[in-house]
Amino acid sequence: MSLAGKTALVTGAARGIGFVISRVLCERGMRVVINDRDPEATEIAEQKLKQDRFEVAGLAADVTRPADVQNLFEAAEQRFGPLWLLVNNAGVFRAGSCETLPEQDWDETFAVDAKGVFLCSQAALRRMTMQRAGRIVVISSIAGWITRTNQIAYCAAKAAAIHFARCLAVEAAPHGITVNCICPGMTDSAMLRDTAAARNVAIEDYLTMIPTGTLAEAEDHAHTVVWLASEEARHVTGQVISVDGGQSLYHPLTLRR
Ligand SMILES: NC(=O)c1ccc[n+]([C@@H]2O[C@H](COP(=O)([O-])OP(=O)(O)OC[C@H]3O[C@@H](n4cnc5c(N)ncnc54)[C@H](O)[C@@H]3O)[C@@H](O)[C@H]2O)c1
Repeated sequence: MSLAGKTALVTGAARGIGFVISRVLCERGMRVVINDRDPEATEIAEQKLKQDRFEVAGLAADVTRPADVQNLFEAAEQRFGPLWLLVNNAGVFRAGSCETLPEQDWDETFAVDAKGVFLCSQAALRRMTMQRAGRIVVISSIAGWITRTNQIAYCAAKAAAIHFARCLAVEAAPHGITVNCICPGMTDSAMLRDTAAARNVAIEDYLTMIPTGTLAEAEDHAHTVVWLASEEARHVTGQVISVDGGQSLYHPLTLRR
């Protein structure tokens, strides 16, 4: 059973990892709803993929707003029919330690990286339960289970997303739905460059902490999504998969040669 003709919805997909996931799903023949909160960026992303004759629909919505999410899922279904795959990719990063982080940054991070995952998964689950089939993938981060300084809200929100996925997997399993979580390591992206700038660190310094010596490419995450969405992964649920070149294994002594 291939993915061709099935419908996927990817949140935060106007750029970065979400856009690449969308493109790779299109290449597998899926009909893909690209969501982002920025209408103009969503439209541009849609047009880019349409140039390659892919079946895509750009639907702007803020995943932190329940009414937006409801409209998004209704519009997606009207456009492309029953949803097979939801990829909860939208995320924001705010730097700051517990001592310094403004309350607003904590709230914004949790609104997108945790509550947005809940709202979209709930909307997908209600539909997939009726179909008795479907796949939900959460894009968290290795920051959700390894410690990092000056990223207190991001780490805590990504940890919430990981455990949400594990708990939802148990709830969804009797309905034929799998839920899994991908934890990207440092990925060549705008978000990484913003993070590096906020920490005043050169990207090359990061590479010394990754056993493969390379950043992840967004395609690495996209190919993991493809596998989790496939028939081959039907018995895989509640799993947390780090796609990080071994970065989460890092210890100062590990790479000492
Ligand atoms: N880049 C990395 O190194 C890295 C590492 C680990 C995890 N991740 C995670 O991967 C995901 C994608 O990261 P990226 O690097 O492509 O980030 P990015 O900032 O390039 O893209 C995120 C997208 O999400 C959208 N978005 C933000 N808030 C939204 C909202 N409320 N509703 C809808 N869309 C919203 C943004 O507009 C943006 O287009 C994020 O969840 C991020 O936390 C990234």
